[in-house]
Amino acid sequence: MTKIDSKLNDELPLGRSPGPTWQDVLDTDSRPVPDYLRAESPYLNGFDDIPKSHYLSRDWHELEKERLWSRVWQFACREEHLPHVGSYIVYDIADQSYLVVRVSDSEIKAYPNACLHRGRLLKTYDGRCSEFRCPFHGWAWHLDGELKQISAEWDFPQAAERDLSLPEVKVGRWAGFVFINPDANCESLDEFLGSEIQQHFARWDFDNRYLAAHVSRTIRCNWKIANEAFTEGYHVNATHPQAVTYTGDPQSQIDFWGNTARELSPKGIPCPMLKYTPTEEEMLRDALDVRDGEPLPVSFGQGDTLRGVLSAAGRERFRATFGDRVDELTDAEFLDAWNYMVFPNFHPWGAFNRIVYRFRPNGDDHETCIFEIMYLAPFKGERPPPAKVVHLGPDDPWTDVAELEKLAMVAEQDTFNMARVHDGLKVLRRDGVMLSRYQEALIRWRHDLIEAYIERGPVKS
Ligand code: FES
Ligand SMILES: [Fe+2]
Repeated sequence: MTKIDSKLNDELPLGRSPGPTWQDVLDTDSRPVPDYLRAESPYLNGFDDIPKSHYLSRDWHELEKERLWSRVWQFACREEHLPHVGSYIVYDIADQSYLVVRVSDSEIKAYPNACLHRGRLLKTYDGRCSEFRCPFHGWAWHLDGELKQISAEWDFPQAAERDLSLPEVKVGRWAGFVFINPDANCESLDEFLGSEIQQHFARWDFDNRYLAAHVSRTIRCNWKIANEAFTEGYHVNATHPQAVTYTGDPQSQIDFWGNTARELSPKGIPCPMLKYTPTEEEMLRDALDVRDGEPLPVSFGQGDTLRGVLSAAGRERFRATFGDRVDELTDAEFLDAWNYMVFPNFHPWGAFNRIVYRFRPNGDDHETCIFEIMYLAPFKGERPPPAKVVHLGPDDPWTDVAELEKLAMVAEQDTFNMARVHDGLKVLRRDGVMLSRYQEALIRWRHDLIEAYIERGPVKS
């Protein structure tokens, strides 16, 4: 079902927030901005409400399992999680589990994580091994999936007739991220991602980043509710009021290209809903959380701007790892929020933001989810080992994890809404939720793509 109300889409001009757009802010950049970063591609696809059932119904969750998670490319881990031959991770999605393993220096493979004897999960933790040996009766497979041994093989005369290699699941790699796709007939990861996001990220050298923090929290809401809290900037004025003096979230730019999208929010301009115009120094104080009477930690003189001062500081911070190439990169890349999204559930922020988000159902429960925050930082010299996952329960605050620094408080504000949206949808006396046309368009984008996957029917084997 394509939900285009073409009449309304054609007749209504596209409204944008008062105040400068992100493009206007780019015009003031101290460095040339490449055309490919300036591209605009808004998502406009009608005005229909999003049915509540897409969040609340068990049937819809079953459809997502059968027709989305079974055939979509999905981020499983970073390459750095698989440093050696035999390094493996367990990637779980809904009621499915996959083993992702480095088979050789150049090859990574993935298998459904189940023993071909009586189905026990082969692994329940990440690690390194020389074979996959089932703990139940001891059947074993080589890393490349070939059957190695059947214990008491004399008692399985039928085994000779069967293919008992571990079935393979497609693996794709991009920018240091390892993806899997359970559908044997899927398009390549390269086709799925498209050229735009690959061209943009090539500029930021994501292969050479390491996982500096990784925190996973269970949240009492459907996975899409958590995901949608990071899919629009419209909520900033009410959910993060501390940011309105220096963040132009209503002026964000929304773009999409097939399965990828982005929301770009400028820093250093106030939210137009603010009733006064803050000075540059006031914006800088709020951005750095420096109170009246306290000295600023950066030098700030007559005629300086937040964008000028903070982009210069960011450039110097990254000079150690990126070298003098930082002088060619725009102020915007050191300052603004580059919230890129890969359908359905993965947000690798672009430029120098470090942030990566992922949202998954919590096992087979559609009323809770797992929301992960990761930091990908550049490094110099030898690659540091990836951060171990810190697991938080639904009532453990992000602020318990020091590595998240200032983002912890912001994420806590976002998380405060999530379970209350899930509960509120059950109370809501309407069939669906209403979306703004431009600012919340990427919520519609994700739902439209999910619907398109579901309409394709079950995966054919
Ligand atoms: S279930 Fe794995 S060896 Fe029996
Ligand atoms: Fe937020």
